[in-house]
Amino acid sequence: MRATNSTTADLDAALPAQRRRPTHRPPTGEDPSLRAAYRLCRRIARQHDPGIYVLIQLMPAVLRPAGWALWAAATVLDDLADRQDAEPAERAARVEAWTHALQCDLAAGTSGDPIRHALVDTALRWRLDLSTLRGAMNSTRDDTRGRDFADWAAWRSWSNGGITPWVDQVRHLFERAGAPMTLRLDRQQDYKRFINGAQLTDILTDLGADLAQGDLFLPQEALDAFPGAADDLRQGNWSPAAAALIRELTTLARQWVNRPAMTRGMHPGAATVLDTAACLMRAQLDAVEGAGHALLKRAPRPSLAARARILAPARIRSKLAWSLTPLTVPGPRRPAVTVSGPSPEAESTALRPPPPHPDGARPPQIAVDRMPVHVAVIMDGNGRWAEQHGLPRPEGHRAGTAAAREMVYGALEIGLRHLTLYAFSTENWKRDTEEITKILEAIRRDLDEGPVRDLDVRQRWLGHPDKLPEELVQALLREERRTRTRTGLTLTVCINYGGRDEITRTAAALAQAAHAGDIDPHLIGEDDFARHLPHPDMPDVDLLWRTGNEQRTSNFLPWHTTYAELYFTPNYWPDVDRRDLWQAITEYSRRQRRHGAVPLVLP
Ligand code: IPE
Ligand code: IPE
Ligand code: MG
Repeated sequence: MRATNSTTADLDAALPAQRRRPTHRPPTGEDPSLRAAYRLCRRIARQHDPGIYVLIQLMPAVLRPAGWALWAAATVLDDLADRQDAEPAERAARVEAWTHALQCDLAAGTSGDPIRHALVDTALRWRLDLSTLRGAMNSTRDDTRGRDFADWAAWRSWSNGGITPWVDQVRHLFERAGAPMTLRLDRQQDYKRFINGAQLTDILTDLGADLAQGDLFLPQEALDAFPGAADDLRQGNWSPAAAALIRELTTLARQWVNRPAMTRGMHPGAATVLDTAACLMRAQLDAVEGAGHALLKRAPRPSLAARARILAPARIRSKLAWSLTPLTVPGPRRPAVTVSGPSPEAESTALRPPPPHPDGARPPQIAVDRMPVHVAVIMDGNGRWAEQHGLPRPEGHRAGTAAAREMVYGALEIGLRHLTLYAFSTENWKRDTEEITKILEAIRRDLDEGPVRDLDVRQRWLGHPDKLPEELVQALLREERRTRTRTGLTLTVCINYGGRDEITRTAAALAQAAHAGDIDPHLIGEDDFARHLPHPDMPDVDLLWRTGNEQRTSNFLPWHTTYAELYFTPNYWPDVDRRDLWQAITEYSRRQRRHGAVPLVLP
């Protein structure tokens, strides 16, 4: 199908001057084959997706070759799936073969195929994790069998699964260059809708061509609302029902692409790319609406004037924005990555068991039904520990990281599934800058030196990037990606985390979903709220443990701890080791939990 093609096709025909003007040269050093590969990608992007091409031109010059490579790869896969010279099974096999070849090429660090050559170079240069594209590639493969969607929910999940991973790669590129296209948590829903809007716009644009191939990529739910419309369209009959259906869908697509709040707070250059994409799509939808029965014959296009009105100011805005931002250009290429299975940034070493406790201590035996699933810890007392030892406070934080490591060892040994550690709260910004810097440095050092790197630990970060150093955010995201396929302990580290902040953002995301029509506000239940939390799969906390002789929860996990067993100990955090965790779990195993019910008295 052509769903990713031609959002605003012929766009650059409106801009002949730009076509003649030489564009940025790929930073490929002296490798002529690589330069040729990137040139080919640029040509493909320009010819197949002129609308996308002009958006890539709004990116900083250093990122454009990567943009061309990604888009050319998506286009080639779409073409392999679409080309009518073969049966669906054969086309599916071609997509599969291309995807598999990419995996091998990534491992080899190069490719004989020019598109993959450029894509592999892009992935290695910018350290992109292409494994996240696997699902989208499979979706393109499966499109060859045709698609039936019962309702909008099924359609949306197809649309998001097929396109979002590609757009996410572009977002990662911006991130790597130091101009993040960061989405606020409460804007995730907007982002999904925006992508749905882009998809629907393309489907409406290419309606005639898709119908000629017997395809109608719309949900039954939408078609049922206009009886007879689908049959009329299939027979090339522009009936009142067909016209009403298209009008309805155009209105819907316009609502979906219109997400002004999505780019609020983003880097202005990155925001310009997305805002311009929205404007181009709206112009495209105007053209769809104005086309009438001609929609069934050819893809409508916005007028040259309409396109120029959008692009001229966008170019000025983006040029200014990028001129004000010093970008990070990648250093030498890093080793190869893989496209499926474990994440690239690279799970090269085998997992090992935790080192034994120096005294040979072993975990207690806890009956399975008495074992907590999730232990959350407020690691308090670093400062007082340092004072007690006549040391500056940062020394306490440094010593505290060793205790955190001990918790991980102890959790693995006792077989705990979830351990969540409170490392830096939204209130901790009230401390003096030097202490904050030292705390964040200690965390960063621990991530980089990686004492738990080779253990069976899936590391995650809970909190908000605002105000955190970019290198720390990058290191956290890197570890999250690198360890995401691990199945042992899930370790969630809360950094710049605040419970009220989390609740507020989640409520905002829910309001967004209601506003977008994804959820009926009258029917919102606890499950809906939980699904909109940053880590919806995080289970309730069974045991909340705080060290440091304080008996409060300090804005920690309010949603998850409503029925947690509380456990407070007087020791300072740097003094604990894994035996204290085992003691906490033993204590928990003796507690009787009621959850509001009357306890069952056995005879
Ligand atoms: C906990 O130790 C660590 C963080 C809050 C970052 P503290 O630094 O709060 O130590 P005390 O409470 O001052 O002893
Ligand atoms: C809670 O400790 C936060 C962390 C352990 C990260 P604090 O020491 O900041 O808490 P209060 O201020 O004593 O409540
Ligand atoms: Mg404290």
